[in-house]
Amino acid sequence: MPSKPSEDYQAHPVHLKHQDFTSFQELPDSFAWTQRSDDDSHYLSTGDSISESVPVIDLSDPNALPLIGHACKTWGVFQVTNHGVPSTLLDNMERITKTLFSLPVQQKLKASRSLESVSGYGVARISSFFPKQMWSEGFTIVGSPVEHFRKLWPEDYSRYCIVFTVYYVPYSSLMAGWEEILDGIKEYEEEMKRLAGRLMWLTLGSLGITKEDVKWAGLKGDFKEGSAAVQLNHYPACPDPDRAMGLAPHTDSTLLTILYQNNTSGLQVHKEGTGWVTVPPVPGGLVVNLGDLLHILSNGLYPSVLHRAKVNRSRQRLSVAYLFGPPSSVKISPLSKLVGPSQLPLYRPVTWNEYLGTKAKHFNKALSSFRLCTPL
Ligand code: OGA
Ligand code: NI
Repeated sequence: MPSKPSEDYQAHPVHLKHQDFTSFQELPDSFAWTQRSDDDSHYLSTGDSISESVPVIDLSDPNALPLIGHACKTWGVFQVTNHGVPSTLLDNMERITKTLFSLPVQQKLKASRSLESVSGYGVARISSFFPKQMWSEGFTIVGSPVEHFRKLWPEDYSRYCIVFTVYYVPYSSLMAGWEEILDGIKEYEEEMKRLAGRLMWLTLGSLGITKEDVKWAGLKGDFKEGSAAVQLNHYPACPDPDRAMGLAPHTDSTLLTILYQNNTSGLQVHKEGTGWVTVPPVPGGLVVNLGDLLHILSNGLYPSVLHRAKVNRSRQRLSVAYLFGPPSSVKISPLSKLVGPSQLPLYRPVTWNEYLGTKAKHFNKALSSFRLCTPL
């Protein structure tokens, strides 16, 4: 993800009204998305009574390619197992996330996102499009998080370090803290980039796309030049989870997103004709959801999936989203193999940065604003 936001992005800042979630015994009105008595159950309806569930695909299965193709077309989301990312790395990342969010709120606010940078701590970027606040906090990492960590562990950052517990301890007692954390994040990013490249080919391969068709995938076709962000999310336990919203319905502005969730459910995806379906955590599994740029690249064949996060009464939930997109100079447009005389390109070319700017301005109307013509 470009680390410097576009003008449109900067012109639509998100105002921090940050709260200390632990201080609430009851859900404040500003966080109550619907009244309990409301008939309008759009936000609260779930399709959980329906037996449909998001496909779980074993990447070592010889049939993985067609299974992924089917999942992309019908759901826009699937879970993967046997993906090759070591579980120790996932556990490590979960500990880092937990450590970071357990800092005092005043401390976290010092590392807030700013107009100049998309990185840092804050409420969800989409907050400004909704009248109610979301029961979550986030930390976005684009490039090195060192500068933010300096703010999180401020004047005495040289004396204190993060350890893999919820406390911080004197630096002298554990020298490796800082470096371990930075290395952990870097390693996570490298593994995720590798997996994202693989998933891109499984997804595009299921449409008959080959390496010759995507020049920007690089000489080796490994998407190494693709840019990305890591989004850490924390959904504290909530006194009235049915009326609260962790993260409001949205689609991601990515090619694809790889989401790690701890052992607490909360992610829900919307399926046409079915409603909201919970994506339960699968041990060792990762959720893959298609974003708006893949929707454009596939000329609408693979839809970006609308999703949201709910919260729990007694359990906090953590998630780590790897937001994967194209190299910043690349304009994404429908792949030429997927268009022809009978199938016109449905979207005009757009760079990731331009798309993020439009999303910051128009939110869920961004995708259609790049639409060229409506299908018959
Ligand atoms: C996101 C997202 C879902 C979750 O970060 O874009 O959709 O379950 N997260 O945290
Ligand atoms: Ni998302």
